[in-house]
Amino acid sequence: MKIQIYDNYEHMSLAAAKLLEAQIRLKPNAVLGLATGSTPIGLYQELGRLYREENLDFSELTTINLDEYVGLGPDHPGSYRYFMDQQLFSQVNIDYDSTYVPNGLADDPEEEMADYEALCDYLPRDLQVLGIGHDGHIAFCEPDDSFATYCHVAELLDSTIAANKRFFRSKEEVPARALSMGIKQILNAKKILMLVNGEAKTAALKAMVTGPVTPKVPASILQLHPDVLVLCDEAAAKEL
Ligand code: F6R
Repeated sequence: MKIQIYDNYEHMSLAAAKLLEAQIRLKPNAVLGLATGSTPIGLYQELGRLYREENLDFSELTTINLDEYVGLGPDHPGSYRYFMDQQLFSQVNIDYDSTYVPNGLADDPEEEMADYEALCDYLPRDLQVLGIGHDGHIAFCEPDDSFATYCHVAELLDSTIAANKRFFRSKEEVPARALSMGIKQILNAKKILMLVNGEAKTAALKAMVTGPVTPKVPASILQLHPDVLVLCDEAAAKEL
């Protein structure tokens, strides 16, 4: 695991965008694994600028997102499909049919995730972007007694619901279940780019990097991946 510390969120985001830019220019038909949440917003904004002002071409890319809420469709402002459409896909010339997000409205969520597992096998990712939850979760793989190996339907912990309520009108509106990629597919990505910012993530970052590998801190499994780059800001890194 390599770690690079930046003085603030903006510089971290610009550095992340440079890496994605290099990946896209070197391999225009790359497969990228993408995350939602507050953390990658600066990265996606910069990718939009690179498209508009520096001819970065997204037309051959394929993207696969980590997760989605059960019960929320593309038109719901809290859904991750909506987030991706707003923050990135509508800002660049990506082929919408080559962007994959689990279907929150699937009749059978278990079957949806079995299909998603097969899709991930079929489209191995060149690079996976990740964020980390305060409790050390990645995607919606929550702290537990064992790792959530496969693409699955996750029951969200109260702490995750509380952390994500800022994207909804109230805590009650946050779905209690989500569709999530599992640890196996996350580790299948050739390269992993983990972004961590802000003081609220200090403990999670420390546990991920220096703690034991344990399902109680799902992100700690990244210690076993051969090519992980962590970009963080000084606030998050203050206990490293
Ligand atoms: C989102 C995801 C989550 C977030 C994590 C951090 O697709 O997979 O694991 O990366 O909850 O979220 P933020 O960035 O909002 O702090």
